[in-house]
Amino acid sequence: MDNSYAMHNFKKNNYVLFGNPVAHSKSPFIHNFFSKQIGIVYNYQSIKVPIFDFSDTVSNFFKYDGVGANVTAPFKEQAYLLSDQLTDCAKISQSVNTLKKINHNTLLGDNTDGIGLLSDLIRLNFIKKNFSILILGAGGAVRGILFHLLTFGCSVYILNRTFLNAKKLVLQFNQFGNIKVFDDSIIKKKFDLIINAISRNNNIKKDFFPVSLVSSKTFFYDMNYHVSNTVFINWCIEIGANYVADGIGMLILQAAHSCFFWHGILPEISPLIQQLEKKCFL
Ligand SMILES: NC(=O)c1ccc[n+]([C@@H]2O[C@H](COP(=O)([O-])OP(=O)(O)OC[C@H]3O[C@@H](n4cnc5c(N)ncnc54)[C@H](OP(=O)(O)O)[C@@H]3O)[C@@H](O)[C@H]2O)c1
Repeated sequence: MDNSYAMHNFKKNNYVLFGNPVAHSKSPFIHNFFSKQIGIVYNYQSIKVPIFDFSDTVSNFFKYDGVGANVTAPFKEQAYLLSDQLTDCAKISQSVNTLKKINHNTLLGDNTDGIGLLSDLIRLNFIKKNFSILILGAGGAVRGILFHLLTFGCSVYILNRTFLNAKKLVLQFNQFGNIKVFDDSIIKKKFDLIINAISRNNNIKKDFFPVSLVSSKTFFYDMNYHVSNTVFINWCIEIGANYVADGIGMLILQAAHSCFFWHGILPEISPLIQQLEKKCFL
């Protein structure tokens, strides 16, 4: 469903995805699948929130029997500010993608993007301790993943259109490991893994990162996903990538951890992965 909250009748035991846009999201399908699998009935639908109405929409939802919510772009930082209590992950990332009402007046915020991405990279064999990772983008989703990548033992460089946004992330996360802003002085470095976290509607320019950073062993992971190859994945294939994956596994795993946060049960993800994943190795 893709309505503004004003048109929406929230039901009991309701869970939602708040975002703008949300029409593309597979989260309702995923959570309906989990609901059947774990045997707990929870209604889950997506709500397109008017850009300036996030706070009112969330208050209204939790006032009328809303129990839990996922939050996607561009509202993760607002969800962080709105939360009454935060898990450690949400506190560190200053970004919330999962909300839970824990009593009448209290919203607990969590962030499951980091564990979702790391679990998927491990599942795909796309990551090892000490890997050098280049991240393209410095938005809310990157904030959610840096703690997990750094504490896993990887070093991270951030390349972003707006240098200042990358710099802010480095200052926020350098207490957890080796993280730097990418600049032209490291143009000869070969990266083990390149992660694209540039938002889906803004197609990356082909020369966004230099081809000199890539070797035949480089893994490419696009946090975006699409029924066919994403623009980024097509471009990686053009430049000779041998290992590519899109973000569908991360989506399923972050959803599984949201389900755990709400219901205390971590669903089995393999049946869904088989249904939704199209490709991994070329
Ligand atoms: N698979 C999953 O489970 C999962 C989970 C989370 C997010 N995601 C996806 O990851 C993407 C990023 O999400 P987000 O929450 O971080 O979004 P966001 O906060 O809006 O950040 C967008 C990032 O993209 C950059 N960007 C936007 N347009 C660009 C352009 N034309 N050229 C170069 N850079 C551009 C922005 O750079 P500036 O700083 O210069 O503005 C910023 O770094 C989204 O597409 C989202 O759907 C997937």
